[in-house]
Amino acid sequence: MPSLNDIRSTFLDFFARNGHTPVASSPLVPRNDPTLMFVNSGMVQFKNVFTGVEHRDYKRATTAQKCVRAGGKHNDLDNVGYTARHHTFFEMLGNFSFGDYFKESAIPYAWELLTKDFAIPKDKLLVTVYHTDDEAAEIWKKVAGLPDERIIRIPTNDNFWQMGPTGPCGPCTEIFFDHGEHIPGGPPGSPDEDGDRFIEIWNLVFMQNEQFEDGSMVPLPNQSIDTGMGLERIGALLQGKHDNYDTDLMRSLIEASAHATSTDPDGTGRVHHRVIADHLRSTSFLIADGVMPSNDGRGYVLRRIMRRAMRHAHLLGAKDPVMYRLVPALLRQMGAAYPELGRAQALIEETLKLEETRFKQTLDRGLRLLDDELSRLPSGGALPGEAAFRLYDTYGFPLDLTQDALREKGLTVDVAGFEAAMAEQKAKARASWAGSGETKDAAIWFDIAEATGATEFLGYDTEVAEGQILALVADGKRTAEAGQGEAVQIVLNQTPFYAESGGQVGDTGMLSTESGKARITETRKSQGVFIHFAEVTEGKILPGQGAALTVDHARRSAIRANHSATHLLNEALRNTLGQHIAQRGSLNAPDRLRFDFSHTKAVTADEMAAVESEINAMIRQDGAVETRIMTPDDARAIGAQALFGEKYGDEVRVVSMGTQAGTGKGLDGQTYSLELCGGTHVARLGEIGLCVLLSDSASSAGVRRIEALTGQRALDWLAEERRRLAAVSEVVKAPAAELADRVKALMDERRALQNEVAQLRRELAMGGGASGGAEAREIGGVKFVAQVLTGVSGKDLPALIDEMKARLGSGAVLLIADTGAKPAVAAGVTADLTDRLSAVDIVKAAAAALGGKGGGGRPDLAQAGGADAGQAEAAIAAAEAVLAAQETV
Ligand code: ALA
Repeated sequence: MPSLNDIRSTFLDFFARNGHTPVASSPLVPRNDPTLMFVNSGMVQFKNVFTGVEHRDYKRATTAQKCVRAGGKHNDLDNVGYTARHHTFFEMLGNFSFGDYFKESAIPYAWELLTKDFAIPKDKLLVTVYHTDDEAAEIWKKVAGLPDERIIRIPTNDNFWQMGPTGPCGPCTEIFFDHGEHIPGGPPGSPDEDGDRFIEIWNLVFMQNEQFEDGSMVPLPNQSIDTGMGLERIGALLQGKHDNYDTDLMRSLIEASAHATSTDPDGTGRVHHRVIADHLRSTSFLIADGVMPSNDGRGYVLRRIMRRAMRHAHLLGAKDPVMYRLVPALLRQMGAAYPELGRAQALIEETLKLEETRFKQTLDRGLRLLDDELSRLPSGGALPGEAAFRLYDTYGFPLDLTQDALREKGLTVDVAGFEAAMAEQKAKARASWAGSGETKDAAIWFDIAEATGATEFLGYDTEVAEGQILALVADGKRTAEAGQGEAVQIVLNQTPFYAESGGQVGDTGMLSTESGKARITETRKSQGVFIHFAEVTEGKILPGQGAALTVDHARRSAIRANHSATHLLNEALRNTLGQHIAQRGSLNAPDRLRFDFSHTKAVTADEMAAVESEINAMIRQDGAVETRIMTPDDARAIGAQALFGEKYGDEVRVVSMGTQAGTGKGLDGQTYSLELCGGTHVARLGEIGLCVLLSDSASSAGVRRIEALTGQRALDWLAEERRRLAAVSEVVKAPAAELADRVKALMDERRALQNEVAQLRRELAMGGGASGGAEAREIGGVKFVAQVLTGVSGKDLPALIDEMKARLGSGAVLLIADTGAKPAVAAGVTADLTDRLSAVDIVKAAAAALGGKGGGGRPDLAQAGGADAGQAEAAIAAAEAVLAAQETV
């Protein structure tokens, strides 16, 4: 009996043998369709290839595509567990032709695979075709030899396949398996077609048209083929089972669930095990593809599926979390075909365990409340919406979980009442917000948030995605369109653009719709709504349009590297300066990073070097950067650093990077850096390349600031430094390694020369000068020398005065430095005379004659400035007058 894994391989091998390129399943979150919540068929990843917008280097492809049908248009969640063929997660096998072969080959391929490779008896098969599709009917007759009554013409949309309201579409032919007369049910198209006798196994779509929003349908540039066969269905058939949950793969998961809960797989808990087996697949694959549980959008669908499974585990009597323990069983079954599961195993297990642990805290009380309510319900009544809302709001019961719980008892929920209670709560939130004093400007965003819900951020996993434009805002008001040259703020349902927060700047990039293009110059957020500041560069853009969004990759990469380096810097500072270091602010821009932290002293050069070296050692370690979702308490328990004074929600992202023995941090106890952070990061530390610390400065009292560069910027900076060094080497004629010694020697030499020059000047000054020789005269019984000097400055004068005094032995000296500009003057009196004569008096008199003011110093040496060197003679005369005067005293 072939296993599901064998069947998948047989399918892919068959088409590979027939010239098809095997293509990997695309992730479950569609990148190319803003209206689709999850990928729900094989053709989604090829949508733009069918319409001719995108080209691949192959014309035939085959895939096993992961699909989720929960939330959005195709929602099978409610039925899972209770029926034979509903799943939230399934695999769709498909073969595709992009303008290569059409019906004439698609039908023979399908027939050959089913009847030869899968060896299904021909007489068990029948087909449907679209009622006008004579061509397909003819081919079936010719290829399969089917009689007319087993080629059923269907006039309804059942045989005209459309992926949604718009997009590629075309008539289709479906292949059915007849389980035999003993099973009730009629052939397709008959009144009792919903019975279980005739089961559809394969849908071949003849893609030939494209449907547009205005209702028009035009032929595609190329006729193409898209087929879809559910692996679980064909598996059940080939394994002789009537129920998809009896296939080997599903059965092994059911048994794992039974084992983990010590219960009978086929006993009273049968439905619970089926729900758990199915939901284990969808939740694990969604987490592996980057979806995290949240209260909005895709994350909320994931949470709903998880909680639904957890309630069923609870009903099996499980006291401790169960789901995460089943992940290894899933890996054994599907890990080889989908390596992403193995890569994300730790993340899947942790996320499931956390959610289940948390939900258990309220589950019991919620179920008790539910029982209470039900005991008061008249039989056949509906649970009041208000009670369902309380279960949702207080106990975390998604509406469909409550509905699922009631279904077993044949009861329903008053959904309108639930919605009314929800609306009332929103109105209250609005009223209390209006009184909170926030700026008027935010009112428009509050309105939009209320109408559209929070924007879903896709940018942790991708820089390119499509989104749907929900609102345009210009000058603080909603607007119906924005044309070329206009500035507008754009709100989308989902976006890869990061909105400025946590020190990381917002993304920039491009947006384009079918009618226009816009440049996104900034992204911010308010009330959970991402606001894309844009300028329309071409055509016009309108609300409701799908938009291709592309983040500026080079800029985002640089921001990412800087943000991750900031985490390393934070940790290296703590290791070097002490654990008192706490982050006080940061900036992660494309061109640099800035980090403010509490520390009272300047960081020394040695400390800076140690920090820089530690950061770069971590970069070279090239460890993976990992993100987990946790409660703030759990995060702190494993040593995550939170920002002081920051308010955190129920769940936080915890970013870990690097490994260092003995840190005691993280789940492994040796995580280097562990921080709560909502920013975007490199996948591996090596991507940072290099980190250079530029400067340490004071930011405010007790707060230091370090600026740094990473990657190419750091290299550019180093190159510039090297150029500067080379220029200096060139000038002083020494290699860089000897530069410091060389420059020091030059400085020493310079100082020696300066001293020598000063000495020579003094000697020169003593030997001559503008006023001729320096003859000593005697005035008032004191020897006096006065001289006007050129070529010396004011600051040379004290040394010259000293020298003159030494030569005189006893006496007074006056020197005037004629500097060309304002003259300087100094006077000196030898120590033996200072009790009767003060240099200060002499210099004051001389300075006054020179047009200057003041003068000061000691009785033996005083200095002053003048204004006019032309008055030197008068100044000398004034000094002489002071000497003469002292004699008469
Ligand atoms: N796209 C087609 C389907 O989903 C094959 O049925």
